[in-house]
Amino acid sequence: MRRAGAALGLLLAACEPAAAAQVEHATAIDLSHVSCGECHEREAREWSGSLHARAWDDPIFQREYASTPSESCRDCHAPSTSAPGRATGIDCATCHVRDGHVLATRTSEAGERAHPMRIDAALQTPDHCAGCHQFAFMDDGSHAVDEALQNTLVEFLASDASRDGATCQTCHMRDEGVVSHRFPGVEDPEQLARAVDVEIAARRGGGRITVDVRIEGADIGHAFPTGDVFRRAELSVTTPAGAHEAFSMQRWLGDTIDADGASLHVRTIDDSRVPPPGTGELRETLELVDDGADAIAWELRLHRIPTTVDARTLAGVTTSHLVARGVVAIAGPR
Ligand code: HEC
Ligand code: HEC
Ligand code: HEC
Ligand code: HEC
Ligand code: HEC
Repeated sequence: MRRAGAALGLLLAACEPAAAAQVEHATAIDLSHVSCGECHEREAREWSGSLHARAWDDPIFQREYASTPSESCRDCHAPSTSAPGRATGIDCATCHVRDGHVLATRTSEAGERAHPMRIDAALQTPDHCAGCHQFAFMDDGSHAVDEALQNTLVEFLASDASRDGATCQTCHMRDEGVVSHRFPGVEDPEQLARAVDVEIAARRGGGRITVDVRIEGADIGHAFPTGDVFRRAELSVTTPAGAHEAFSMQRWLGDTIDADGASLHVRTIDDSRVPPPGTGELRETLELVDDGADAIAWELRLHRIPTTVDARTLAGVTTSHLVARGVVAIAGPR
């Protein structure tokens, strides 16, 4: 799959310096990512466990990069390191360093003494994240260039979270109210646990078990799942004897005919994800045949790379994470 170049102009746009504080600046400071951690030990530790730190080295990224190498991948996966070879992912400098200055949402005297600083209010807005988390397909001939490959900002702007004044940072950069650099996502069980509310009812009738599923976005600011088109959630129901049914929540891509009625381009043809909170809910009905069961077990999992993804490059690297599970009694006479 080929990806669009980043809209990094937005992200890198320098802002007006704040009214200069009368503090003497240290000037000869190494603004590379390695140095930041010497003084900002907590931020460096939190960040080092995040997918941002692994955005380049991650084996899943490297597998796909090996099959579709493009300079544009660096725009989002390793913007600070333009030289070939090892890169440091989305490091401190990617978000914080411009023109020899450290960007911050506020400055302190101690900070001004440690390094030249500049206030950048954009650090607190979704636009800061959107430069990499909202983009269209690359013009590769087969994909429609007006189609979002990742659509997280647009989903966010439609959500209750955005209307309530939350930002991406509210949910992804706070630990008990304190700024955090862990950037929790698919690998964080607590983050997954707050994503959706699941309601399940099972009843017997007509020789089968009918399972009604309702899933609604909870403490989330976009669709579930969001981000890469690889991400896919699956809800499965199982009886003790092993009867099994499932459905998946994902964007489905396929060839579509353009407005000119002649050419074909890949676009989203169906979207079965849980919509952003405030824009609807997901309802599905599953049917099982099992005369002996009193209850069904259900499980909701988020697959970072599902088995259905491009077997050529990503076979064998599938990963899946538990979001929620439960057991529901079957209503009605056996
Ligand atoms: C020599 C030590 C040192 C180095 C190296 C350093 N900082 Fe700082 N930085 C400080 C101190 C001291 C403060 C004041 C606040 C604090 O104590 O955390 C600060 C504050 C900040 C702030 C918050 C603004 C404020 O004034 O509270 C940001 C953001 C920041 N630094 C980013 C960075 C980044 C990014 C790097 C690497 C490019 C870096 N720093 C390197 C010492 C350092
Ligand atoms: C993906 C972008 C991103 C990366 C990578 C990143 N930061 Fe930040 N950082 C931010 C944003 C955004 C804020 C402001 C958050 C807010 O106030 O809501 C921030 C805030 C800070 C602060 C101020 C904390 C406070 O309590 O106000 C420091 C210090 C800091 N970062 C240091 C670092 C260091 C050191 C690294 C690398 C180990 C790093 N950051 C990596 C985006 C980033
Ligand atoms: C109200 C809280 C909330 C807000 C606001 C929010 N998120 Fe999330 N986000 C979550 C939760 C919960 C998850 C975990 C579930 C999941 O992985 O989908 C998540 C997951 C993600 C993921 C992992 C991809 C995936 O779905 O597996 C990415 C990337 C992400 N968010 C980016 C963003 C960006 C960018 C913004 C702002 C435009 C944002 N989020 C705003 C709560 C929020
Ligand atoms: C320079 C580009 C860039 C910027 C800026 C950026 N991100 Fe990311 N982010 C990425 C990439 C690339 C990944 C995926 C790394 C991987 O999995 O290989 C990622 C991963 C994440 C994840 C983990 C997703 C998962 O599936 O678990 C979260 C959460 C996230 N970003 C939130 C944010 C937030 C919030 C901001 C703004 C404060 C932000 N990002 C800014 C490029 C960026
Ligand atoms: C405009 C920014 C952008 C560009 C350009 C980009 N990516 Fe990404 N990529 C992201 C973000 C953001 C994520 C994380 C989304 C999520 O967590 O769901 C990501 C995730 C991925 C993942 C999934 C990694 C994981 O952790 O599961 C792969 C693989 C990937 N990108 C490969 C590539 C390749 C190869 C290229 C170049 C052809 C590329 N990307 C170019 C922003 C970008």
